[in-house]
Amino acid sequence: MSEPQRIPVIAIDGPSGAGKGTLSRLVANRLGYHLLDSGALYRLTALAAMQAGADLGDAEATAEVARHLNVRFDAAGDETAVILNEEDVSNAIRTEAVGMNASRVAAYPPVREALLQRQRDFRQAPGLVADGRDMGTTVFPDAEVKIFLTASAEARAERRYLQLLEKGEKVDMEALVKDIRDRDQRDSERSVSPLKPARDAYELDSTELGIDQVLEQILNRVAQSRQ
Ligand code: DC
Repeated sequence: MSEPQRIPVIAIDGPSGAGKGTLSRLVANRLGYHLLDSGALYRLTALAAMQAGADLGDAEATAEVARHLNVRFDAAGDETAVILNEEDVSNAIRTEAVGMNASRVAAYPPVREALLQRQRDFRQAPGLVADGRDMGTTVFPDAEVKIFLTASAEARAERRYLQLLEKGEKVDMEALVKDIRDRDQRDSERSVSPLKPARDAYELDSTELGIDQVLEQILNRVAQSRQ
């Protein structure tokens, strides 16, 4: 008997601020696929641990929070509301403080283990676009297309600066570049699922490209993989 056809996954990995979130949403919309924002799960774990007063330096205590996350993603039009314990935390998980703590808890093996199946459960017909750091290497190693999206630290800091400004958060550009470099380093040097391209990933540097150009390249890649 032949193997049943696997539900296709398009893995989009890369460092913070490379544009994965925007691009993943656009690709998912174009293909009519589901979307997994795996970073949101690490952010939610950090936020839930902070709210519960858990010790973020304790891997096991944080993993316990991850195992019991009571979370729901409510798709409403173009946006997806993130609901934690019946509270809308869509904005709360996007602050710099939660981002830094997310990067910290994401380095704990038991936290990654706790979130693994939750991520795989997003793989539903007709397909999934998975946005993260280890989608192509660990969570969906059999993904149909693997993209590793990068941009220079300066370009990423500038995009982040504009986003934060739009939200009314004032930040110092130099501090932002430093934060991005620190986070890259921590995400790349951790022992479990470090940020690195899968062997079969297509590396795409978006420093000099507009969103439309990156989208086109990704969609071309998907079309090629189906020929
Ligand atoms: O993509 P993001 O900035 O929302 O991710 C938040 C943090 O979670 C980031 O520091 C890296 C970590 N992360 C991870 O380790 N693995 C993933 N698949 C997604 C995010």
